[in-house]
Amino acid sequence: MSTVDLEAKIPNNVGLRDNKRLLMALEKWQPAFLRWWKDVGPSDFNRNDIYLRTAIGVGQGGWAHFDYVKMPDYRWGIFLADPVADRKIHFGDNIGAPVWNEVPGEMRNRLRRLIVTQGDTEPASVEQQRMLGHTAPSLYDMRSLFQINVEEGRHLWAMVYLLHTHFGGDGRDEADALLDRHSGDADNPRILQAFNYPIDNWVDFFCFTTFTDRDGKYQLASLAESSFDPLARTTQFMLTEEAYHMQTGENGLGRIIKRTAELHAAGKDPQTEGAIPLEMLQRYVRHWASASMDLFGGEDSTNAAEAFASGLKGRYREGDGIYKDPKALQQSYSLEVPTSDGRIETKDIPLRRAMNAVLLDAYIADCKRIVERWNRELEKLGVSFRFSLPDHKFNRHQGVYAGFRFSPEGKLIDAATWEAHLTEWLPKQSDRDYVKSCMHPVYERGKYANYIAPPSQGANNQPVDCEYVKFN
Ligand SMILES: [Fe+2]
Ligand SMILES: [Fe+2]
Repeated sequence: MSTVDLEAKIPNNVGLRDNKRLLMALEKWQPAFLRWWKDVGPSDFNRNDIYLRTAIGVGQGGWAHFDYVKMPDYRWGIFLADPVADRKIHFGDNIGAPVWNEVPGEMRNRLRRLIVTQGDTEPASVEQQRMLGHTAPSLYDMRSLFQINVEEGRHLWAMVYLLHTHFGGDGRDEADALLDRHSGDADNPRILQAFNYPIDNWVDFFCFTTFTDRDGKYQLASLAESSFDPLARTTQFMLTEEAYHMQTGENGLGRIIKRTAELHAAGKDPQTEGAIPLEMLQRYVRHWASASMDLFGGEDSTNAAEAFASGLKGRYREGDGIYKDPKALQQSYSLEVPTSDGRIETKDIPLRRAMNAVLLDAYIADCKRIVERWNRELEKLGVSFRFSLPDHKFNRHQGVYAGFRFSPEGKLIDAATWEAHLTEWLPKQSDRDYVKSCMHPVYERGKYANYIAPPSQGANNQPVDCEYVKFN
């Protein structure tokens, strides 16, 4: 078991106290991080006492502590899951060899790029969401938002720790650059395009946490299998926190759906009551699901094959022994590929080259479970509307389907058909205007905005009407 040092300036379980050079470098980065938080983190509310969870260790059951804290005083720490003795590489070309505690020279660039790309999304999402506190639909939701924001900040720390510890001067430069790039900045934007748009309403926020944070979960899960043990251990612990982010999205959308469904059941028109019509929400679901699928990268990718072969990224739950061939050399993957003459062809590609597609399949199965859960709620409330996830070919801008047009059901269509249905399938300007018009802050204890039902339980077993954010 690792020793947890909670008294240190940077709480950690990585023995920072005994590594003076690293400690100094990270303590130098810390004020820059706090400046970043102040400049482009949550706008206002930094003086409010907020009921937040703070990671204090990695032990089963007791890893977090809840208390009122002002966000700038949050104790961002560095925590890696405890090491497994004699851990061996369990997939790819080097199966059976001991995992690496240092970066092998030939992996250095590839690994650094993986860490930087993951790390860049963490502060990016905080920047995207910085205005949301001003329209929080309740104190409960405001707490959830800030919980997610501080934890994304901690995830940045996790990646910065790896960069500082294992990549020397280059790593320190990359750590600084993570604070210099900003979401939407014309000159110095975030690396992935999806992280450059503001999330300025709560429908987008709940969609983002449902679908985009879930992409994050799958990326982290594939890194949690990594042969580079410090990366595996840090992402394993990040996943513990990430679960709450996705729940916030899934439950948040579920509560919006419930509110609208209750109005339907009472014979009222949701839109005159300031609730979100289900067809409109379905358009947001299509948009966010398809945009998040793009984050998985190309379905047929030599890059993905190399990352798997060299042991940097595994498949989802690779270590649980659920795949027949841990080398992934014997099988192929059937990929549907559009042809220039308007047909879909099935092409068999070597499984290793399909690793992004394999990860995407696991993600889609997960998303389907959520949609089914919402639909069960609708059924219970006696409403006939049903949500559906768009086909993985719909509205794609990355990978083999980019540049082609597909219906939400996955039928290849022409440009005219696409144009004719666009406003029916994806959010249109009037949807965005309407959603915006619903965004009013509700800061009164136990009260909720008109478009969202109260949660079924409070945070950390507190009552639903707890004063989660104090306005002193
Ligand atoms: Fe994160
Ligand atoms: Fe997250």
